[in-house]
Amino acid sequence: MKLYFVLVFGLVLPLIRAQVPHWGPCPEPGVQPAFSLKQFMGRWFEIAKLPAQFEKGRCIETNFTLRTDNSIRVASSEILKGEVRKIEGTGVIEDMKNPAKLGITYSYVLPYSPYWIVSTDYVNFALVYSCTDVLRLFHVDFAWILGRNRSLPDATIEKARDTFATNNIDVTRMIPSRQQGCVKTL
Ligand SMILES: *[C@@H]1O[C@H](CO)[C@@H](O)[C@H](O)[C@H]1NC(C)=O
Ligand SMILES: *[C@@H]1O[C@H](CO)[C@@H](O)[C@H](O)[C@H]1NC(C)=O
Repeated sequence: MKLYFVLVFGLVLPLIRAQVPHWGPCPEPGVQPAFSLKQFMGRWFEIAKLPAQFEKGRCIETNFTLRTDNSIRVASSEILKGEVRKIEGTGVIEDMKNPAKLGITYSYVLPYSPYWIVSTDYVNFALVYSCTDVLRLFHVDFAWILGRNRSLPDATIEKARDTFATNNIDVTRMIPSRQQGCVKTL
């Protein structure tokens, strides 16, 4: 069912054209032990991402807040062609035994996409991974380095890339996100 939706909505094929698909099923990275959803809430800036999307917006940030029903309000914004664009989604912990494995959706007609917190110290950085298997033949994945600040020290970014790599996540094509001239957001 999940795959059906993804294919019907045409999300997969454009992505495959935009990046080299990885053969085989998704890697299974470790995730942040003893993950605290509460500490993760709040504002995060996108520092770097995979795949490279040069045409996309800049100043991308997301504000996570807990709703009273324990779901997560996911409010993202970016500046695209000089305009602030906002999108709101919903996040959930999909498996209470694995609280660092969140699912996020931006539309009630779409299934939750994985949003796994691979590692975070809550106050500086967070490493997020999302991967979807396609027929177990190959997988399409996304990875983000998030920061509480609009920039992170180079050493933190290097360490983040290493962490992804040791979890079998290929981040050679990861590119920095533009976070300059962002006064217009929020
Ligand atoms: C994040 O969202 C909450 C709830 O809507 C709001 O109170 C808070 O001001 C927001 N923070 C930022 C930085 O936008
Ligand atoms: C955030 O960045 C600003 C300027 O880029 C810097 O002055 C500040 O120390 C940073 N804060 C943290 C917590 O790293």
